[in-house]
Amino acid sequence: MVKVGVLGSGAVAKALGSGLIKSGHEVMLGTRDVSKLADWKTNNGNSASVGSFEDAAKFGDLLILAVQGNIAAEVIEAAGPQHFNHKTVIDPTNPIAKESPQDGVLKFFTKDESLIEILQARFPEVHFVKAFNSVGSGQMYMPSFKEGKPSMFICGNNTAAKAQVNEILDKFGWEVEDMGKAIAGRAIEPLCMLWCIPGFLNNQWSHAFKLLKA
Ligand SMILES: NC(=O)c1ccc[n+]([C@@H]2O[C@H](COP(=O)([O-])OP(=O)(O)OC[C@H]3O[C@@H](n4cnc5c(N)ncnc54)[C@H](OP(=O)(O)O)[C@@H]3O)[C@@H](O)[C@H]2O)c1
Repeated sequence: MVKVGVLGSGAVAKALGSGLIKSGHEVMLGTRDVSKLADWKTNNGNSASVGSFEDAAKFGDLLILAVQGNIAAEVIEAAGPQHFNHKTVIDPTNPIAKESPQDGVLKFFTKDESLIEILQARFPEVHFVKAFNSVGSGQMYMPSFKEGKPSMFICGNNTAAKAQVNEILDKFGWEVEDMGKAIAGRAIEPLCMLWCIPGFLNNQWSHAFKLLKA
């Protein structure tokens, strides 16, 4: 059992938090406004708690940064980077810009670098692992597809941190595809754009990627 601190109160924080509790972990969700998580706490039993961003960062031996991409670094600064140092931090964030999608294609605020690289450079002692960024929150835990397990593309600079995330992904029902160091975020983050296009164009939101191998 690992204590997990999830920074966030949105669909991703709730889905991953609930999945982790079902997998036997204790989970604290962090937010600026705990009242919005009252139902989540009630519905998830004794292993669920809520607090501030700082409370969640302190609580977790493993952390999840489930906040809007544009303020991800600020949330770490506000919660106290010392509570993140040397911990595995699952990073499902996407660098989605404020502008509306164009013909179903999201706009990113990043240019040549990915968000995980920006976060990794700003907080070098944190073991970020990109995961869960290119699937909808409804499919994050025990995704169900007739074609079998979908692929989760991950990346990060720390091998032990990726092994820890690998274990969680395996329990959650994913086939893990490790794409290497944080620089691979440049390829993994845009998968979110691709994933969203059928949603914006045709209101289809229930799909996931699978890497087929001969
Ligand atoms: N939704 C999905 O299905 C999905 C799938 C894959 C990846 N993602 C990515 O996962 C991340 C979380 O997505 P989400 O849809 O669950 O939630 P979201 O709406 O993108 O983010 C909600 C969280 O961001 C925090 N936040 C927003 N503005 C803030 C500010 N100015 N200062 C501090 N905190 C702020 C909120 O804090 P409070 O709790 O205090 O309000 C809340 O916890 C995003 O980066 C998203 O791109 C989403």
